Amino acid sequence: MSRARGELACLQTFKNSSSVFGGMVVPLSPMGIVVLFLQIVSLFLLVPGLPFFRRKGGKRNLIRHGYLAALALVLHTITMLVVMVPSFSVNFDSIGDLSILQSLTVWLHVVTGTAAEILGIFIVASWAFKPLQQMTCARRKWLMMPTFIMWAVSLISGAVILAVGII
Ligand code: HEM
Repeated sequence: MSRARGELACLQTFKNSSSVFGGMVVPLSPMGIVVLFLQIVSLFLLVPGLPFFRRKGGKRNLIRHGYLAALALVLHTITMLVVMVPSFSVNFDSIGDLSILQSLTVWLHVVTGTAAEILGIFIVASWAFKPLQQMTCARRKWLMMPTFIMWAVSLISGAVILAVGII
């Protein structure tokens, strides 16, 4: 058995629980549920940066937001490298067999997730490689809301992929 087939078989073994979606019984992968949970946690770690949730407290609060964003990025990176990238490469050929809507959902997830990861690394690195109190991240503030939105879109499309059992 080739390595790719072996990994596919391994991923399939996780698909042993099920949910009802649109009247159809759809497999729900326990590994996918763990990934979705970690993704939801990572998105919530970014919430203290949002205008609605920022409280008074100035620089200290923003530094806390910086630490939480760095932690969110670590979680996002781990789930991407350990589960999503291997699953994507194993299932790559079968994406061509999906319906247009399903394949759009997969590509939306891949593109927004990758963009959020790259922008997140750029923002966090621009802060972490200088003394933290200098808040060099503030120069990248204009990038943060687009990054947050892409992060959220990738989470929602990932949840749809899992719920519908597209991959
Ligand atoms: C994955 C990385 C990050 C994301 C997705 C993110 C997200 C956000 C969001 C959505 C906002 C609100 C933007 C707005 O008001 O238009 C914001 C504000 C801000 N964030 Fe981040 N952030 C990240 C990393 C960081 C880091 C590492 C720092 C460094 C401490 C930081 C410092 C700030 C500052 C200074 C503001 C502006 C606060 C203000 O104007 O009152 N962010 N962030």
